[in-house]
Amino acid sequence: MAEFTLKIRRYQPESGESAYWEEFKVDLDGKRSVLDGILQARDRQDGSIGIRCSCRAAICGSCGVRINGKPALACHTHLDEAERVAHGVGWNAPDEGQELPAITVEPMGNFPVLKDLIVDMDAVHWKKVQRVTPWLLPEGPPPEREYIVPPESMIDVTQSMACIQCGACVSDCLSMEVDPLFIGPAALAKAYRFVGDPRDGQHRERLQDLAEDPHGIYDCTHCFNCIEACPKGVAPMSQIMRLRRVSSADYGIKDRNNGYRHEHAFVENIRRNGILHEADLLPDSYGGKFHPRAVPELFSSLPIVTKALQRRKMTPGKALGHPHKAPKEVKRIFEQVEGRGERYELNLYVVGVEEDEEALADNEAALASDEGPDAVGGEEHAAAAGSHLPEERSPNA
Ligand code: SF4
Ligand code: SF4
Ligand code: FES
Repeated sequence: MAEFTLKIRRYQPESGESAYWEEFKVDLDGKRSVLDGILQARDRQDGSIGIRCSCRAAICGSCGVRINGKPALACHTHLDEAERVAHGVGWNAPDEGQELPAITVEPMGNFPVLKDLIVDMDAVHWKKVQRVTPWLLPEGPPPEREYIVPPESMIDVTQSMACIQCGACVSDCLSMEVDPLFIGPAALAKAYRFVGDPRDGQHRERLQDLAEDPHGIYDCTHCFNCIEACPKGVAPMSQIMRLRRVSSADYGIKDRNNGYRHEHAFVENIRRNGILHEADLLPDSYGGKFHPRAVPELFSSLPIVTKALQRRKMTPGKALGHPHKAPKEVKRIFEQVEGRGERYELNLYVVGVEEDEEALADNEAALASDEGPDAVGGEEHAAAAGSHLPEERSPNA
């Protein structure tokens, strides 16, 4: 048993007062959870502490909070580990008489707070999950018996299916902070669960909808926060990127938000210059410097350009007259990637032991000769190591 200090963010809307911090000392083994600590404080010191929980085993997703400023499941965070993090780098165990750092616990970000640590999941999270039509929409008459799905297709969606709807990713989403209407990481990861499922007959419609929505798949800024926050390894940003790839590469959906063109402008920019040349990116995203659609965008970015020039972050010479010469190594990468007949996406979430020694040896030999997994007879290897696209899509390199 040890003593831990929990510094809990309190808020009681009925009191009319603003939120404040309150400290509680709890006595528990360090391997017990922060949730256990909060529940002890509630049982022994203040029965009014508001916290939502159910399974206490990282399954139901109801105890999402921020611990030491980072989103986490309170039932899945050890007290001793939280205390170590609260203290900061380079601290292992307290010295005799050393004052212990307080573990801060506050409600998740990007959600309205109902009371203390309880947030309104309905307003921000569940409505957005509803927004992506979170059920299968099969086409044609139902089969006489069950739908048969190839194992590799289910492996493809396993990662997004692992979501427990805790909202931790939403809590730290930078895009959502700026645009509260952004559909968000959890709901978009859920969308991939159906776009990746061959039983669903509305892939194109789903993707078109999410690409055309100004708060949809192209509203994510790749900040990686949701990947770091997720306690279940769902990696929502990766699912969003997969939605984009399927939308643009497989279905060629050119959205009115310019997401498709912007992505292609990035690729062409690197192909041409070797490294990203920012000054070209905006006009290229609208079809080139003199394209009628680019002109208003260029005008609207003038204040930013002026500031960049004033602070010497760019010079007119470099912005307008830089040479376009990608090194041959970059050109070779493009040739190799675009020369492939089929796009493979490894689902890194699925781990296991390859028991077929012969297949493993073949696979290693193929990798050494840089031929890729399909060179060793494919389907089984693709299913074991990751996934490849269902046949009905027309994959690009
Ligand atoms: S990567 Fe995208 S979805 Fe994930 S937290 Fe950042 S902005 Fe949000
Ligand atoms: S994606 Fe991860 S963090 Fe987001 S709601 Fe699902 S389980 Fe929680
Ligand atoms: S109480 Fe269920 S996930 Fe924490």
